[in-house]
Amino acid sequence: MKQDMLVVLDLGSTRNTDVARAVRALGVYSEICNYDVTAAELKAMPNVKGIIANGGPNNEVDGVKIGLSDEVRNSGFPIYTFDYEENGTMNPMPVEDADIQEALRSFVFDTCKAQPNWNMENFIADQVELIRRQVGDQKVLLALSGGVDSSVVAALLLKAIGSQLTCVHVNHGLLRKGEPEQVVQVFREELNANLVYVDATDRFLDKLAGIADPEKKRKIIGAEFIRVFEEEARKLDGIKFLAQGTIYPDIVESGTKTAKMVKSHHNVGGLPEDLQFDLVEPLKMLFKDEVRACGSALGLPDSMVYRQPFPGPGLGVRCLGAITRDRLEAVRESDAILREEFAKSGLDRKVWQYFTIVPDFKSVGVRDNARCFDWPVIIRAVNTVDAMTATVEQIDWPVLLKITDRILKEVPGVNRVCYDISPKPTATIEWE
Ligand code: XMP
Repeated sequence: MKQDMLVVLDLGSTRNTDVARAVRALGVYSEICNYDVTAAELKAMPNVKGIIANGGPNNEVDGVKIGLSDEVRNSGFPIYTFDYEENGTMNPMPVEDADIQEALRSFVFDTCKAQPNWNMENFIADQVELIRRQVGDQKVLLALSGGVDSSVVAALLLKAIGSQLTCVHVNHGLLRKGEPEQVVQVFREELNANLVYVDATDRFLDKLAGIADPEKKRKIIGAEFIRVFEEEARKLDGIKFLAQGTIYPDIVESGTKTAKMVKSHHNVGGLPEDLQFDLVEPLKMLFKDEVRACGSALGLPDSMVYRQPFPGPGLGVRCLGAITRDRLEAVRESDAILREEFAKSGLDRKVWQYFTIVPDFKSVGVRDNARCFDWPVIIRAVNTVDAMTATVEQIDWPVLLKITDRILKEVPGVNRVCYDISPKPTATIEWE
């Protein structure tokens, strides 16, 4: 293994992730470990150079106070005690504080003598070796959605095991314009992947016909996705492993031993119980920006690596109420125009998420001197850090007018464009 490592020992801090990121920002790999890790376990981990004991308010587990164990204290590793949350007071941005940055830097380099060798080239080299060791000459299956995480996993596995990987791309008919084509182009044509492309559009739209309740729609899409994926998996022989695009926040947010669970994460694939796979999760120690850097280093196009977030149920939750094919096309076409114009004006690099919505009602308008009765298109463009709250992007008027003009001219069945200026809360980002 090429990388040195610092262990961030979770002794009840709420800022474990920030500390781990601050160490990685210094060019040194870091991992968060549970408070009850043993000295033997620490010694078994590759290249541990030191420990950051990260105390804080969650320092009680099952009614018992936790702290640095004598065993770890006496294990011989340099230890830095980072309890900036002492006495119940919390510095607002402690890890960014210049003195703390300097103390961290000095601990990592002067005390621990760690080398700043955490970079994508070394990460990829290490993962290729680990994947080959884990997989041997067996076969691996991956549900490739075309999202950032699954695309980067696919590229990494292709580099490590090439034709031992089979990717399955299920098109549920609710993807954006050009998306399935890009997945086929990049992975099958350019990267030579074994790619099974399943166009299940009719199957999904038939199941969804007449279903107006948003949660029911989500459940149908999720369940059907697993069913299609499972059917494809059963057609393949001798698959031993399932690869997943699990990333570090999925693991951290699902709860460490001291922190409460933020939200549970379940990855696509849903692990059909009788399909008995072992998991390959090569990105599980990366933060999102590192996943993107990894994808770029592996040669994936920017349009894949710097994609905006896109919900699993896709355009299905933007074609409001019971999905119909004509309105779904109106969502897809208006979304494509919005994305094109955002790219032209540079807004695609600035705005966190932007898309269009088509509601299930019509309004009166006038076209070619005659009355028309058509759908409206709603534009949404929001900025957020964690998707829990969001503010609306103040799109320049000329850009908004250009987008409106194009939607009204180019999208059949649409006579009105609205801009949603509601923040979250009270609105959510999606309409369903
Ligand atoms: P809301 O609408 O809750 O959205 O403000 C917050 C973020 O989550 C995305 N989102 C979903 N992602 N499956 C997903 O994978 C879903 O069912 C889903 N619903 C919302 C949404 O696009 C936004 O980024």
